[in-house]
Amino acid sequence: MQNYPGLLDEAKEILQRNTVTVTVGGKSYERIVPSKDYYVHQWLWDSAGIAMGQVHVNEEDAFNELVSLVAGQWSNGLIPHIIYNPNETRYYPPADQWQTTRFTKNGIKTSGITDPPLLAIAAEYLCANASDEQKKRDFINIVLPSLMAYHDYLKRYRDPEDCGLLTIVHPWESGTDNSPRWDSILKRIDLNMIPTSIKANVDMNRKDIRYQDSQERPTEEDYYRYIYLIELFKDLSWDYTRIVQETPFAVKDIFFNSIWERANEALAALLHQYGDQEEANKYQRWAEETRRALTNTWSEANRQYCDIDVTQGNQQVIVVPTNALFMPLYAGAVTDQQLDSLLHRLSQTDEFSTEYPVPSTAINSQYFDKECYWRGPTWPIANYFIIEGLKKYKAKHKNVDQLANFLTSRTIQMIRFNGFWEYFDPIDDGASGETKGRGFNSFSWTAAILIQLLYAEK
Ligand code: GLC
Repeated sequence: MQNYPGLLDEAKEILQRNTVTVTVGGKSYERIVPSKDYYVHQWLWDSAGIAMGQVHVNEEDAFNELVSLVAGQWSNGLIPHIIYNPNETRYYPPADQWQTTRFTKNGIKTSGITDPPLLAIAAEYLCANASDEQKKRDFINIVLPSLMAYHDYLKRYRDPEDCGLLTIVHPWESGTDNSPRWDSILKRIDLNMIPTSIKANVDMNRKDIRYQDSQERPTEEDYYRYIYLIELFKDLSWDYTRIVQETPFAVKDIFFNSIWERANEALAALLHQYGDQEEANKYQRWAEETRRALTNTWSEANRQYCDIDVTQGNQQVIVVPTNALFMPLYAGAVTDQQLDSLLHRLSQTDEFSTEYPVPSTAINSQYFDKECYWRGPTWPIANYFIIEGLKKYKAKHKNVDQLANFLTSRTIQMIRFNGFWEYFDPIDDGASGETKGRGFNSFSWTAAILIQLLYAEK
């Protein structure tokens, strides 16, 4: 860490600059938004990642970040992927499009879908890294009941089969919005079936491409489908029993479920320390079920874990080589044989070992696009999970430690040489002097992950 004091200061400044105070229902909340240029609200998994960096800078702000997030929880336990700032209009879709205020307290406006459930992991990380015992207790008193309600919601509504893997119902829930993993399912949603009013709404109001090169962002067709799904869920009155059965997009996502596994371990650990032992055992059991289920998604023929399309009774595996295939490392779900395959793929220069690894899609895949969002660029958050996952297997293979250190240092250099971007072009195509940064700059997540990586290197 000593090597980059300037970089660390820059990261801290970004978090400071992206902090906003929001007053809702007479109550004030402090939060760090992903980007003041566009993502001006609070996102679940961004906030969790941000708090994990922020705890090394300012413990109180880190705790506040998560307290502010759980303020948006629904009465059924769901924690939405966006908690809106009612004074901001820069992002599309706007708060009122979701019509969900009847589920929240104090008139807080939220989306109606969730995000990768990183929250319990962040809460455990904060408790492990903060020093003020009283603040930890105060934080736990507020957040622990919310975490349990959230996990119970996810288990109840998203794993009705009790198979250990949760179902996501919208590409945005995966956090990897336009990943090619979702192409085959989205294509089944016939554009002719989408009302023209929805298309007109998107055409008129979509805002990301006003600020960004449209080549880097999801296509118009994808956006029609994203908004169509939201309108459909609204028509189903946000009844998740029906949504999970009827949505044309239902997937057991290996990325999301690897985080779910770790989140249950984290929640169990928090309960062992601060709560009820029986409840702790329950979440530990859920983690074990998920770990086993993830291991079983492995396809030896394709040398990868596979998402499962479970739309309306389907059981179709999805085989697309993306960075998601390394996520079961993070969940500790990898067998010795699988580990060999993963390490091999991670080291191949025509697959995942690029100038700035790990590309979100393998570079030799037909789907690879070096500039487009989740279809090729490298994302610091995903690298963080892969690095943490590799560390778990240190004792298993002599190359693992080296690979984790290499990925850590490449991720730091990627940010150091290019800036605190949302995502990065992963390959060296000989164009010198040009930034590899893509998307929005001064991005909070990127700053927070850099802080974590620098502290972990200490
Ligand atoms: C984009 C990303 C998503 C992230 C959000 C806010 O939509 O795909 O993962 O949470 O931006 O940063």
